[in-house]
Amino acid sequence: MAKVMILGSGGREHALAWWFKKYGHEVYAAPGNAGTAIDYRANIGLDLNNFEEIDNAAVENAIDLVVVGPEDLIVNGIVDYWDRSEAHQEGTKIFGPHMAAARLEGSKIFARRFAEKHGLPIPEYLAFNSGNFRRNLTMARRHLAGMNKGMERELLVVKADGLCAGKGVGVNKSVKDAEDYLESLKRFGNAATDFLLEERLMGEEVSITLITDGISYKAFHHSQDHKRRYEGDRGPNTGGMGAYAPTGLITPELERIINKDIIRPTIEGIQAEGLEYDGILYIALMIQDNKPYLIEYNCRFGDPETQVIVPLVDADPYRLMMDCIYGNLDKADFRLKQAYSCCVVLVGEEYPRTSSKGEEVLYSPSNFGKDEIFMFHAGTKMEKGNVVTDGGRVIGVTAVSDVSHEDAIAKAYKAEQKVCFSGKDFRNDIGYRVRDEKD
Ligand SMILES: Nc1ncnc2c1ncn2[C@@H]1O[C@H](COP(=O)(O)OP(=O)(O)OP(=O)(O)O)[C@@H](O)[C@H]1O
Ligand SMILES: [Mg+2]
Repeated sequence: MAKVMILGSGGREHALAWWFKKYGHEVYAAPGNAGTAIDYRANIGLDLNNFEEIDNAAVENAIDLVVVGPEDLIVNGIVDYWDRSEAHQEGTKIFGPHMAAARLEGSKIFARRFAEKHGLPIPEYLAFNSGNFRRNLTMARRHLAGMNKGMERELLVVKADGLCAGKGVGVNKSVKDAEDYLESLKRFGNAATDFLLEERLMGEEVSITLITDGISYKAFHHSQDHKRRYEGDRGPNTGGMGAYAPTGLITPELERIINKDIIRPTIEGIQAEGLEYDGILYIALMIQDNKPYLIEYNCRFGDPETQVIVPLVDADPYRLMMDCIYGNLDKADFRLKQAYSCCVVLVGEEYPRTSSKGEEVLYSPSNFGKDEIFMFHAGTKMEKGNVVTDGGRVIGVTAVSDVSHEDAIAKAYKAEQKVCFSGKDFRNDIGYRVRDEKD
């Protein structure tokens, strides 16, 4: 049994905590949420921006392994910091890539250049990276004006270079919208000084999650997130309204192409660039006309994807991550279950415009954890002994079925009815693509 500290407070972190616990490990959640507080009674109130505090907490609690949930910690160099930390000297390991490698997520321009250099299929793009927002804006506007006259390539997707908490991408339908989005990049400050204009792809999105030591890798089930707020993929982008796995969108032929054109050149590129990558590499793809294109890399687990892929794995996460850290991933015990999962995210009515705060959440805990139904908390906290809402995405209800997608989906929607809070809302159509296929 190991002592594991999970950094973060979302559904992803609650699902990771559940996975470690399943294999008998002792879990500390920092800072965690009401779900981790109730299930494990071991939340540590930490400011995650303060690496020294994290280091001290790891030493005090004699932690064996720190698992980092959110991307900003990784992109801001917590793994590099760890090399010099007291906890590291005491033998505490950390799971995640170093800062130089995490640029694959932290800079969209870096990721596009990397992909181009190593021959991955990507949308056409132009990088505006003068380091001066005004100058970049002038150049980009000039390009858009040329597009209006049919003189330039149609690049309508606008992407801030840096981390913007999932809100720095504008998928626009017209030049006017792209112009407006460019203007709005100001709100992200330094993260959007540089940016990209990109060709708009059309197709199905698939998330691939790998654990890799930079040499070998193991792949979790493919999954599909539902980013838009409303049914039928309408409305604004969100952190994710639900997910299901496996996707059923990947034929064996497509799988072969994804391995050859996306995964293999990515791993070879990481080696060729000398990047130290021990961690999760999440690859977002768009399948257009049966061909996969790289949308983005993330250097950590996805949320809500983690909630649907982790219950479908047979592997002790501690041993798996330690094998990865020690470069023994090729020999690691890692099996995928042939089962189906679905996660429905419950949000506040006003999400993503505003978060739900302080509404009491009522549910019957005895209904969860049994029959392969899980309630992974996200924006919740304990207040005077009660669970209350404390964020945009409140709870993810996940169900697993050995039988079919339909069964997993039906179980998740049935379980969702047992959770109540004022203003509760959710999407009714999670997994609609796999439902339609069977109709
Ligand atoms: N070239 C493109 N064509 C069409 N849609 C795109 C394109 N690039 C991105 N998108 C859409 O925008 C979403 C967000 O883009 P991307 O994944 O690059 O940004 P992100 O902010 O890093 O997202 P995340 O928070 O998931 O890490 C994608 O999931 C996809 O739906
Ligand atoms: Mg991203």
